[in-house]
Amino acid sequence: IRRFAVAVDGPAGSGKSSVSRAAARELGFDYQDTGAAYRALAWLAAQRGVDVDLEDAVIGLLDDFDYEIGLDPDDYFVRVGRDTVTEAIRDPAVSAIVSRVARIPRVREHLTDIFRGRIAQGDRPGIITEGRDITTIVAPDAPVRVLLTASEAARQARRAAELGGDTSGSVGQQLSARDAQDLRVVDFMNAAEGVTTLDSTDLDFEQTVAALVALIRGVP
Ligand code: C5P
Repeated sequence: IRRFAVAVDGPAGSGKSSVSRAAARELGFDYQDTGAAYRALAWLAAQRGVDVDLEDAVIGLLDDFDYEIGLDPDDYFVRVGRDTVTEAIRDPAVSAIVSRVARIPRVREHLTDIFRGRIAQGDRPGIITEGRDITTIVAPDAPVRVLLTASEAARQARRAAELGGDTSGSVGQQLSARDAQDLRVVDFMNAAEGVTTLDSTDLDFEQTVAALVALIRGVP
């Protein structure tokens, strides 16, 4: 029996990670952060001194890419081999190269297989999986598929607040640059057919979580 699958996509800084995690906690579901997996691979490439523009070298890393992500929304961690990289994968140096890792088709196929395996199996009754191509590629059959959007200004303000009030503009520039690169690979700005758009521009965090939970509970 397949458990209840929820797919959430959205741009950088849309709040989808924190919103998805809070909704999963409320519902007693698992939470899968797929961006963390791409980041973990980018971290490993940097760690090994691999040039991420050399596709074959990055693909070579997949052979022993042993990563683990805590699916429990209350115990979130990311490990690569024996290294705990929960914090390290958020480093700007990783954010700067992750899109180049994620655009490699063989990398996407490899990680997509892992994501699907985790959606299919687990003790909890459901799982919220969040990323860029979850509603379209990873789990197009999920009974609930949501595109979480927010205006560019709202996204930049939230991300700056997360980073301790950096309003210098560089954060916003980095986010926009990453979105632009990522958009060449997957369209996560327009909802695919059957995908519900949840615009959080005028909602606060709790309201956004409540809206997502309501969408999930609304399914018979
Ligand atoms: O979600 P987050 O911003 O942490 O994702 C980091 C990067 O991982 C994205 O910028 C994108 O390049 C890649 N990614 C992806 N497909 C996903 C999730 C993330 O390509 N489903």
